[in-house]
Amino acid sequence: MVSLDQLVEDAKRDFSKASDPAALEDAKARYLGKSGLLTERLKALGGMSPEERKSAGAEINRAKTAVEDALNARRQALADQVLQARLAAEAIDVSLPGRGQALGSLHPVMRTWERVETIFHSIGFDVADGPEIETDWFNFTALNSPENHPARSMQDTFYVDGNDAQGKPLLLRTHTSPIQVRYASEHVKHYGQNNMPPIKVIAPGRTYRVDSDATHSPMFHQVEGLWIAKDVSFADLKGVYTDFLRTFFETNALQVRFRPSYFPFTEPSAEIDMAFASGKLAGRWLEISGAGQVHPNVLRNMGIDPERYMGFAFGSGLERLTMLRYGIDDLRLFFDNDLRFLAQFPA
Ligand code: PHE
Repeated sequence: MVSLDQLVEDAKRDFSKASDPAALEDAKARYLGKSGLLTERLKALGGMSPEERKSAGAEINRAKTAVEDALNARRQALADQVLQARLAAEAIDVSLPGRGQALGSLHPVMRTWERVETIFHSIGFDVADGPEIETDWFNFTALNSPENHPARSMQDTFYVDGNDAQGKPLLLRTHTSPIQVRYASEHVKHYGQNNMPPIKVIAPGRTYRVDSDATHSPMFHQVEGLWIAKDVSFADLKGVYTDFLRTFFETNALQVRFRPSYFPFTEPSAEIDMAFASGKLAGRWLEISGAGQVHPNVLRNMGIDPERYMGFAFGSGLERLTMLRYGIDDLRLFFDNDLRFLAQFPA
């Protein structure tokens, strides 16, 4: 029969070999179970003399305590192991940088839009809006654009299903000029012709033409301006537009010239060119806007007497202004939605 000391050693060894709680309980049963090795020894006490029993009993109990201590220590160690494994598995790396909030910003063309509004607002211009699906009257006829004008052809204008009240097909506006006709007509209706305050308005918005290449997009943005009063002349147009360009581009060293041109809705008409004094484009004349004195027929169509009122109009491309301001040379970048491009214009 092995010694008690040996038995304690065996138990300790068996416990430490148990790699999970179930194995440990098996090992425990071998020593402390109903017919475990230590339990058998305790049972054997019954057959001993009282003196023998006293000293043997004390020794067996000491051994039993030692085995129980070893068992508890191992139980605790296994529980710790399970806890450590769980903690490791469920760990959150608090040192990982957060994903953060991506900051949006305005599209560069929208920035130009807002900038143009602010500049014209500061010199007393109202800002008007209008529908993108227009009637033949507001987009063409009221603007003195004849039936056979090339802009009306299927190649230039997007027509949409449906007719207006006159039975003419509806279309996507090809310029923002119709907004001015709507605005001016309402203005005259409201004030009457005798005490009418000046019409001073810009009309920014989306416009559409059947066109697509590096410098044309089927959807683009225009801003048109209209100033009608008793004595607004071409000289005012020159002053207002030149001042606008100098404010927009933040330089007075900028030349502006008016080149004779033709539009059905203005007479005389001009193409406005500008040239920077410095930078990549220095000295090159760049077309920036159409403009002119509002045609008497257009005034009449707005309900205004051309013998009493006169004024000017201009129409510029917001993409064009944006490209010149930031030095962008391909229009398509505006519509690709490539964040590498757009992120260069932070809020
Ligand atoms: N509406 C013209 C266009 O889209 C631009 C323009 C506006 C020209 C006003 C002259 C006067 O081409």
